[in-house]
Amino acid sequence: MNDLSALPDGFVWGAATAAYQIEGSVDADGRAPSIWDTFSHTPGRVAGGDTGDTACDHYRRWPEDLALMGRLGLDAYRFSIAWPRVVPQADGRVNGAGLDFYDRLVDRLLEAGITPFPTLYHWDLPQAQQDRGGWPERSTALRFGEYAAVVAERLGDRVTNWATLNEPLCSAWIGHLDGVMAPGWQDLTAAVRASYHLHLGHGLAVRALREHVPGAQIGIVNNLSTIRPGSDRPADLAAARRADGHVNRWWLDPVLGRGYPQDMVDLYGVRLPVQEGDMELISAPLDWLGLNYYFRQIVADDPAGPVPYFRQLPGPGPEHTAMPWEVHAPGIEELLLRLTKEYGAPKLYVTENGAAYRDTVAADGSVHDPERTAYLEQHLAACAAAAAQGAPLAGYFAWSLLDNFEWAYGYDKRFGLIRVDYETQRRTVKSSGHRYAELIRAHRARRAR
Ligand code: IFM
Repeated sequence: MNDLSALPDGFVWGAATAAYQIEGSVDADGRAPSIWDTFSHTPGRVAGGDTGDTACDHYRRWPEDLALMGRLGLDAYRFSIAWPRVVPQADGRVNGAGLDFYDRLVDRLLEAGITPFPTLYHWDLPQAQQDRGGWPERSTALRFGEYAAVVAERLGDRVTNWATLNEPLCSAWIGHLDGVMAPGWQDLTAAVRASYHLHLGHGLAVRALREHVPGAQIGIVNNLSTIRPGSDRPADLAAARRADGHVNRWWLDPVLGRGYPQDMVDLYGVRLPVQEGDMELISAPLDWLGLNYYFRQIVADDPAGPVPYFRQLPGPGPEHTAMPWEVHAPGIEELLLRLTKEYGAPKLYVTENGAAYRDTVAADGSVHDPERTAYLEQHLAACAAAAAQGAPLAGYFAWSLLDNFEWAYGYDKRFGLIRVDYETQRRTVKSSGHRYAELIRAHRARRAR
């Protein structure tokens, strides 16, 4: 593979997970249901009827998982904090036992020399807040800001690096427009309002973190895609512009001080519930931007389809993952450079990147996953190429540390560097995990020379 030496000294090598995808123990220590408990327990919503009830049992097995992070040689661990553990009813009453879990995790990570990178929201809205209207309502943003303050007060003496939201696009568009993620709505007005209140919640969380955590390094995590028109027909070119608005610009522009893209505001035709001072909160300066990259999108005009009238065409490349997403490493380089040049990102992390494949377990118990290894190598090489061209890339978090609950796909899709046998909860480092550890060691050794 290409040389990774363009990745700077102090480059943060990490892996990522999210609470509902790994923790299990959904009613332990005062946790209340989230929208994902409700959704996954609704027949027909998740493949195979899978739920996060047990997941990787990480809530009980976290010391073992932490030891595995050490074996991989990780510098950092990106995880999410479950709002329904901390403020289960989203009514301001704090559940100390829920916070204790993250408190212990942070302590032990730091003892192990692994820097914690918590994300405050990775899709598990307390069901009680959903019952009050969820993200389409302003109150959810306000409650999120309060929850952020609670977490910041408890962990802020030890945690410096914070992400507010993970992939708000998925919460708003996939959860409220496409309806295939919790809460499973198909309502454009609700989706646009949800996107706005997610941004407002982000802004309020930034303010809370700045108040409670001196020296906090704060970012937001977006899943972005490179977009290409399916043909050079004017209709497809216009569709690509709309797709870029829907997938990328809507999520970047307001947070980076450009306001909501007017072409998309006009297209959605939904009044944004902006109140005085909101846009300043939403665009408060950030220390870093997180990029989650999985695939590019080739799009065609779809005038008869739902807003925003484009459809995704199958990726033309020869390789696809089990999702089945096209493998296209140049996309990560292009996006890192776009964030650098067009958006002036002060610092970047790849906060997620990885692939699901149909892993098989050999007779000796080992898991040989050459496709995932190749995916990792190609994407890291593309990251290094972006860094060599000036992208201020400070770290990379593989998705995911462990196989886990892949939302509406259930457990069938495995993204882990570490296999989880869900029957026994046995963990096995896959060959991609060993290769990742080797790359980390080699990069450190080379930079130390
Ligand atoms: O598993 C998800 C994660 O929760 C958010 N980003 C994409 C991953 C793979 O689909």
